[in-house]
Amino acid sequence: DWSAASFVDTTVAELKAQLGDDRVILGLSGGVDSSVAAVLLNKAIGKNLTCIFVDHGMLRKNEFKNVLHDYECLGLNVIGVDASAKFFKDLEGVTDPEQKRKIIGRDFVEVFDAEARKITDAKWLAQGTIYPDRIESLNITGKTIKSHHNVGGLPEEMHLQLCEPLKWLFKDEVRRVGRQMGMPEHLITRHPFPGPGLAVRILGDITPEKVRVLQDADDIFIQGLRDWGLYDQVWQAGVILLPVKSVGVMGDERTYERAVALRAVTSTDAMTADWAHLPYDFMAKVSNDIINKVKGVNRVCYDISSKPPSTIEWE
Ligand code: XMP
Repeated sequence: DWSAASFVDTTVAELKAQLGDDRVILGLSGGVDSSVAAVLLNKAIGKNLTCIFVDHGMLRKNEFKNVLHDYECLGLNVIGVDASAKFFKDLEGVTDPEQKRKIIGRDFVEVFDAEARKITDAKWLAQGTIYPDRIESLNITGKTIKSHHNVGGLPEEMHLQLCEPLKWLFKDEVRRVGRQMGMPEHLITRHPFPGPGLAVRILGDITPEKVRVLQDADDIFIQGLRDWGLYDQVWQAGVILLPVKSVGVMGDERTYERAVALRAVTSTDAMTADWAHLPYDFMAKVSNDIINKVKGVNRVCYDISSKPPSTIEWE
């Protein structure tokens, strides 16, 4: 029977032995996994851990600022890098989902690498990779299911060894480890969020303006889930900006604006998922709020597909 307490003790001891006085760099994403990995490493090696948190411009509304603050409160040694301009430039006009992931993955490594190089004596790169990330990235059928940009190792020239203390854990176990170490509940219960962020929730090409529209709609949905006490009942939720416009009416005016889809699922490990049966009253409120408050959106749909055969994300 697996216990979080013994996992923490064993892993901290193992990390101390493995890392000694080496300096370690860790990429923080804002998510539960990398945050727990950071706190675990901080426990083991303290000041020898430097965390790097890259803003690719496609995080949730105010996420970069808020999460950076959380990390500082946890006593982590963290460097925040706003690289959004670079990502937007490189993603300009790109519509293919795998291409988007590749560009984001490549840019991420580049930005991260530039920061990491400043820590000249670093020996290790730590990551919050968990077991399902590795399964989904495996080449089982001869075709990669999806290339998770946070899996796949490092460019040769970095000469860093990989340290993945959570690589055998499932999400619920990661959360128990975080709780065991006394991390604040809002960080622990945070929904999963894809590494490439809102980039994979904007179908079609990405522009800063589309990101703003999606951030505003997403914020209304997520804040609504919290206000209605539904946030912890779903595994993950978000809004997808669809590449279609539809006709609507506002006052006397005919509108021709974007449609968004709300996605909320229940799951235990993201390998399978069911669409969340959210209360109609809640959905009506969110729909009204989005259409009234988010300029450029005049239609809200709800995604009622399960995984499999659908995936959680739309691309
Ligand atoms: P799918 O869409 O494959 O997603 O059902 C399963 C889980 O993985 C997340 N996801 C990603 N996470 N990089 C990530 O770090 C990615 O490229 C990526 N794609 C999907 C997704 O949000 C869900 O939690």
